[in-house]
Amino acid sequence: MRITDTSDLWWKNAVIYSLDVETYCDSNGDGVGDLPGLAQRIDYLAELGVTVLWLMPFYPSPDKDDGYDITDYYDVDPRLGTLGDMVEVIRTAHDRGIRVIADLVINHTSDEHPWFKEARKSKENPYRDWYVWRDTEPPDTSDKVVFPDQEDSIWEKDEKTGEWYLHNFYTFQPDLNIANPKVQDEIFKIIGFWTQMGIDGFRVDAVPFILETTGYSAEEKKSFGDPQQFLREVTSFLTRRTGDAILLGEVNVPYKDQHTFFGGDRGDGLTMQFDFIGMQSTYLALARQDCRPIVTSLAQRRKLPLARQTQWANFLRNHDELTLDKLTEKERQEVFAAFGPEEEMQVYGRGLKRRVPTMLDGDPRRIRMAYSLLFTLPGTPSIFYGEEIGMGEDLAQEGRMAVRTPMQWTSEENGGFSQAPASKLISPLPSGGYGPEHVNVADQRSDPDSMLSFLRQLIFRYRQHPELGWGQVDIVEQPDTSVLVHECRWDGSSVIAAHNFGPDGTTVSFRLDQAEPGSTLVDVFADEKCEVGEKGDVELVLEGYGYRWLRVQGPNDHRLY
Ligand code: NOJ
Repeated sequence: MRITDTSDLWWKNAVIYSLDVETYCDSNGDGVGDLPGLAQRIDYLAELGVTVLWLMPFYPSPDKDDGYDITDYYDVDPRLGTLGDMVEVIRTAHDRGIRVIADLVINHTSDEHPWFKEARKSKENPYRDWYVWRDTEPPDTSDKVVFPDQEDSIWEKDEKTGEWYLHNFYTFQPDLNIANPKVQDEIFKIIGFWTQMGIDGFRVDAVPFILETTGYSAEEKKSFGDPQQFLREVTSFLTRRTGDAILLGEVNVPYKDQHTFFGGDRGDGLTMQFDFIGMQSTYLALARQDCRPIVTSLAQRRKLPLARQTQWANFLRNHDELTLDKLTEKERQEVFAAFGPEEEMQVYGRGLKRRVPTMLDGDPRRIRMAYSLLFTLPGTPSIFYGEEIGMGEDLAQEGRMAVRTPMQWTSEENGGFSQAPASKLISPLPSGGYGPEHVNVADQRSDPDSMLSFLRQLIFRYRQHPELGWGQVDIVEQPDTSVLVHECRWDGSSVIAAHNFGPDGTTVSFRLDQAEPGSTLVDVFADEKCEVGEKGDVELVLEGYGYRWLRVQGPNDHRLY
């Protein structure tokens, strides 16, 4: 492996950290997190070891969908600061070796965006065909809505002109007409603007919806051609402008379709995609205390012939509902029963509004095992702010807002997030066992046994072992279904990861066919070694919900770790 590969394809073993500026750190005491507040926290992120900061939408917005309803793509929400403040954040992050990616929301705008305000004025308005309209009564589309608690159709009648506009998400988020070359040009300009500001790539919102041609006229469909071609053009434009920027897509579709979104075998589409199926099979495995759902999803994923520059992004939690939509009804009910049995813990009939620690009953062994697993599954780990300290949720909050509470910095008032009176905060903080008095950065920072110290260590070790991000992964056969053993092999070296999904300690026996005679397994986290027998036989002890990372050290391997 050449050094240019590992440094140029930086996303292959990155550590992504996502946050919403408005809930991270309030520097001016108005109750809303802001960019200067975030700038002050970049050193914290550097200390944690993350290498990519994903900023959720920070653009001007009526904020009816937490910023995913944009009214101006070329500015920042004045509540968060100015473009100048954004440059300071980007510059400070770069100085600490952290890249910054921004949410790119181009499937739709807010209905308060000036383009849409123009578009709905008349059928002749120059902005009319920036959106998708139909002049006949739409059929029943209630099975297509994304937010079934609030919407019953993906079309909304606009009284003034008597036509219906398409909105795959909320009514106030009209879909842009991507087939329109003017819209395409504008998208290129938006990407050009932010890359010029120093942004290193984008988390692309709702990719399958962007490329969906529902509602387009036959003529538009013809001129648009293959929607995937548009994605390739976006990628090509981005990399022409910047060289090594990435597109990380939100693409919750079956694996075979994700292959297409990567640009097929050539890999000239999205650079990265979240693995929604892997995430859901992880929760099923945790619920059943049986690793086989993960083995199955990994096997499916492996069948895709992916180009080497593409990469999966793995996650346990993001800012949305923890969707279980790709499980069968029976499997979904199993996960609900294990991790969110009460109705108030569930949302849209398909997901959970809880964070990891509460779902795992606050059991530190199980929580740590889950994160260790996240960092060893093939791909790049992505975490959501607060996961590093084990924050909980506030179920009293509506829907997905339950997991979007302010970052808990100290045990002081408002968790040190803001000096504003509690009544003025952008969102209340959780109370009880997961409140800031019990869960906060300040207390955990100096405690070597804290969740924060654990995660910092996990990130450090992940970065130290590129086999995990880059490697070819094989499941190591052994009979205990409560234990997942997998091997990540890359560039002549290998790391074994073992995870016990069950509460009882166990010893697993397996054979490492490819280990050189005389090899030892060196525990990455403890000062322990384990011998590999002559035929590659290994016996490994795991505690209940235990995990181990073991570097295979050949007899002549003198690498420095
Ligand atoms: C996906 C985002 O993750 C979600 O938060 C948002 O509501 C929808 N896209 C609509 O933009």
